[in-house]
Amino acid sequence: MSKTIDNLKAAFAGESQANRKYLAFARKADEEGHKQVARLFRAAAHAETVHALNHFKAAGEIKSTAENLQEAVAGENYEVASMYPPMLEEAEASGEKAAARTFRWAWEVEKIHEALYRKAAELLGKEMPETDYYVCPVCGYTHEGPFDGRCPVCNALGEKFERIV
Ligand code: FE2
Ligand code: FE2
Ligand code: FE2
Repeated sequence: MSKTIDNLKAAFAGESQANRKYLAFARKADEEGHKQVARLFRAAAHAETVHALNHFKAAGEIKSTAENLQEAVAGENYEVASMYPPMLEEAEASGEKAAARTFRWAWEVEKIHEALYRKAAELLGKEMPETDYYVCPVCGYTHEGPFDGRCPVCNALGEKFERIV
């Protein structure tokens, strides 16, 4: 069974990547006017999400929400403390500006995710105020509650933020 668990985790990672890759390809196909190809990419992307979620569930990776929040805190903390700093440093040192920018944006936003998850873990089961979240479509900055002004991470206009209900 342990080999199968490893296989499920590997397949989950692959299907998850295929989903995002196809969504990126769909966006490009739309830009080039290939509407039907864009639809095909989006349809396959959605199916890869179904596969990814099925693999993840079969691997036994979905626990209680209290445990899932701890897992989420740990994952975000790993990115903030260990993963992104050396990646950002190497990209900056080698003058790879686009890479440095995307690493910096992600690093800044993962700090916010970690804090939001920690807060949610503390409030779980208590009176948690209900609010929508807003996400910057450029850098992923994640904001709790109504937002206006400019994105504090990438300076995009707040009116472009996507509301998550
Ligand atoms: Fe698939
Ligand atoms: Fe994150
Ligand atoms: Fe942003």
